[in-house]
Amino acid sequence: MCGIVGYVGEKSAQDVVIEGLRRLEYRGYDSAGIALVHEGSILSDKKAGKLANLEKDLAEHPLEASTTGIGHTRWATHGAPTDRNAHPHLGQHDRVAVIHNGIIENFAALRGELEDAGVEMRSDTDTEVVSHLLEAEVEAGADLTVAMQRVCQRLAGAFTLVAVDAADPARVVAARRNSPLVVGLGEGENFLGSDVAAFIEHTREALELGQDQVVTITREGVEVTGFDGSPAEGKHYHVDWDLSAAEKDGHDWFMRKEIFEQPHAVADALLGRHSPGGRLQLDEMRLSEQELRDVDKIILVACGTAFYAGLVAKYAIEHWTRIPCEVELAHEFRYRDPILTQDTLVVAISQSGETADTLMAIRHARAQGSRVLAICNTNGSTIPRESDAVIYTHAGPEIGVASTKGFSTQLVASYLLGLYLAQVRGTMYGDEIRGVVHELEQMPGHIQGILDRKDAIYALAADLADARSVLFLGRHAGFPVALEGALKLKELAYIHAEGFAAGELKHGPIALIEEGLPVFCVVPPQGRDQLHDKMISAIQEIRARGARTLLLAEEDDPAVAPYADSVIYLPRVPVLLQPLVAVVPLQLFACELASRMGHDVDQPRNLAKSVTVE
Ligand code: M6R
Repeated sequence: MCGIVGYVGEKSAQDVVIEGLRRLEYRGYDSAGIALVHEGSILSDKKAGKLANLEKDLAEHPLEASTTGIGHTRWATHGAPTDRNAHPHLGQHDRVAVIHNGIIENFAALRGELEDAGVEMRSDTDTEVVSHLLEAEVEAGADLTVAMQRVCQRLAGAFTLVAVDAADPARVVAARRNSPLVVGLGEGENFLGSDVAAFIEHTREALELGQDQVVTITREGVEVTGFDGSPAEGKHYHVDWDLSAAEKDGHDWFMRKEIFEQPHAVADALLGRHSPGGRLQLDEMRLSEQELRDVDKIILVACGTAFYAGLVAKYAIEHWTRIPCEVELAHEFRYRDPILTQDTLVVAISQSGETADTLMAIRHARAQGSRVLAICNTNGSTIPRESDAVIYTHAGPEIGVASTKGFSTQLVASYLLGLYLAQVRGTMYGDEIRGVVHELEQMPGHIQGILDRKDAIYALAADLADARSVLFLGRHAGFPVALEGALKLKELAYIHAEGFAAGELKHGPIALIEEGLPVFCVVPPQGRDQLHDKMISAIQEIRARGARTLLLAEEDDPAVAPYADSVIYLPRVPVLLQPLVAVVPLQLFACELASRMGHDVDQPRNLAKSVTVE
């Protein structure tokens, strides 16, 4: 949730840290703060609200130059988003400064203990206890690394912590448990970040850290240990995208840029996944063919948009493999004692690879003996690291809080998984698999065709700028698209939006229909006669009751025009792949509507990109 940056080197730490925070602000934007070490003192500034507030304050009240610093953008958990609760938090003698992502679950007990010892608290956060505990350790003679190891052993919960000590100006120390942290490896400088975006303009060499590890960075090097002080090693990797991928590239919003990147992203997700002979090959599939043949049930776990990708995956995987699939919200799965065996394959879908609910779900599954496969976009993140196998989606960094190319590439990876299982288990012929792969390879062109017709969708958004409620209907693979269309509108435009399975309409939701209510309907391809015709009937039913029908339908579908107030035409694709094209107009619509309403499209209120607390 929160964005974290640490730096030690020869450059201006303030510049490096602020630039890093700018790139991480999508992670949380309730407040921002910075701490620098300068001539034996901690210099700090922090402000409620977006990073711009902090930058303005720093311009008015400049800090002294320093080459060691830490910075934070916050998504509030404990304590309101105020100046007082913004990070960094300092120890009572202002010697140690700490920033934190996560939740210290035993903070109340620790706080009581500190207050009994006479420490006066200066915030309402759980984090502040750590600054006092660390300061007590360094004042008693420990160096900051040892202090961090000792303090971490006393903490319960999930945390990334980064700290500096005024008396030790060339060292930044961090720790992680169930919360993201990566190290950026430079020359004569090193970096810490919640993700690589924090330092991508300085280095593309990174170090992945394990669970319960403490890392110390200095100009000269990086040292990793366990919480108990035992030596440990991070895993070195090269980041395969560069600074330009983290820039807006002429677009007004990252989200819009990412919508328009989808033709490329989908092509990249498919790249190198089949041999010249046409057989699918998934390099990161570390499960043997025998293990895959033994699978008797698949459970897909995910949250939000990734959950909707899972719903689409169920339709495709069951159809192609005949393996029963369940799809569950990760937070529900974890706490309902699901039936899992060693032949259950749990598929975790997560763009960030850090979603705490999904992470806890896969840990639970592995503890029960099940195998876990991750579909993930973020190299080096925790979920793929803790999984038995992974299919990376290769979408490049997704910075807009609302997921777009993350979703479409999750769909591609899910299709590839389904086809791969079908290949291994022999439930589809090779030419059938090649046929679907061929259709998938047409998708970048199809998506581009929709993007080229963006103006019609933007006009619709202008027309509906006053809507207070919008419904979305779909059937079969179009149902998750309806849910995703509604989620995009809720999170960006803050208006009431619901997605329904069209067949469910008459069981209750039709009561919501009133004169002029906009209803998007995802019409299944004509080839699926029953689904298609039943959808057309549902559209007639709502139109008869006054709904304004906005249809997404195949370009040569003659059945829709009589019942449509507007039609957005989609290219002709197989029914199971239709979500890849049908979702695009809904993404464009939500982005444009929210932008017209004057909302911050990339940083919607109350949200954060990566939800690293349960
Ligand atoms: O990083 P993840 O894919 O695990 O994130 C899951 C959800 O938090 C995420 O999809 C969220 O729903 C987005 N805001 C949707 O736009």
